[in-house]
Amino acid sequence: MSLYVVADREELTRLAYHMIIGVISSKEEVTLGLATGSSPEGIYELFRQNKPDVSHVTTVNLDEYIGLPADHEQSYAYYMKNQLFDHLNFKATHLPDGMNPDQEAECARYDAILAENVLDLQLLGIGTNGHIAFNEPVTDFELTTHVEKLVQETIDANSRFFDSVDEVPTTAYTMGIKSIMEAKKILLIASGPEKAEAIKAMVEGPVTESMPASILQRHPDVTVLVDQEAASLLEAVKNSCCGGTGDNCCSDNDNSDGCCGGGCGH
Ligand code: F6R
Repeated sequence: MSLYVVADREELTRLAYHMIIGVISSKEEVTLGLATGSSPEGIYELFRQNKPDVSHVTTVNLDEYIGLPADHEQSYAYYMKNQLFDHLNFKATHLPDGMNPDQEAECARYDAILAENVLDLQLLGIGTNGHIAFNEPVTDFELTTHVEKLVQETIDANSRFFDSVDEVPTTAYTMGIKSIMEAKKILLIASGPEKAEAIKAMVEGPVTESMPASILQRHPDVTVLVDQEAASLLEAVKNSCCGGTGDNCCSDNDNSDGCCGGGCGH
């Protein structure tokens, strides 16, 4: 796992965008695994501004609420169309169909899409409880696409996008951990103090199904890109010169050498 701590969300967004562009320009055919939520919004904004050629890029999204039609403003299909798909010339785009009542068939359909489209890069956010996609604690690491019952913490966190908490769907189709782990590369982004505990547990805690993101410790090519607030509980950061206050700090908030990139001789 490569961990990069950057000053703020803006820098994180810029770096993540350039990493994704690096993958997009590396091959003739590319498959990107995409996430929704607030974390990737800045990245998608950069896509809209710069309009890179993505005519060779297929996208596969992580998840979709069950029961929301694609034209519902809070469906992930709507989010992706609005943020990205209406603005760029992707070769093909895929999301689970939240309105398919045949859940078994929908999961099989999505697994078949994933089997045909090996993910070159999977972009991930992380829930405050450590979920990735909608794989909630405690999750079976061997599952592929499945229906997940959302836990109250996730329903409460996502209620900020809805008029009331009662409108948040309680189930979702989600890519499973097994499929996420099959991506060639993974980029996980997190910013803000509310993500600090999950980031600490993911990076420094044991690999356990009660902290789904901890499985990423076992993936051979994961980049974790976090801002200082999300990184604030990490031992390495508390003791570094990057805003740290530990004994090893040569001066507080010294990020002269590219925040936590070895400034002050550490
Ligand atoms: C979204 C997804 C979720 C989010 C996570 C963080 O497709 O799969 O796992 O990445 O809930 O959400 P934000 O970015 O809104 O904090």
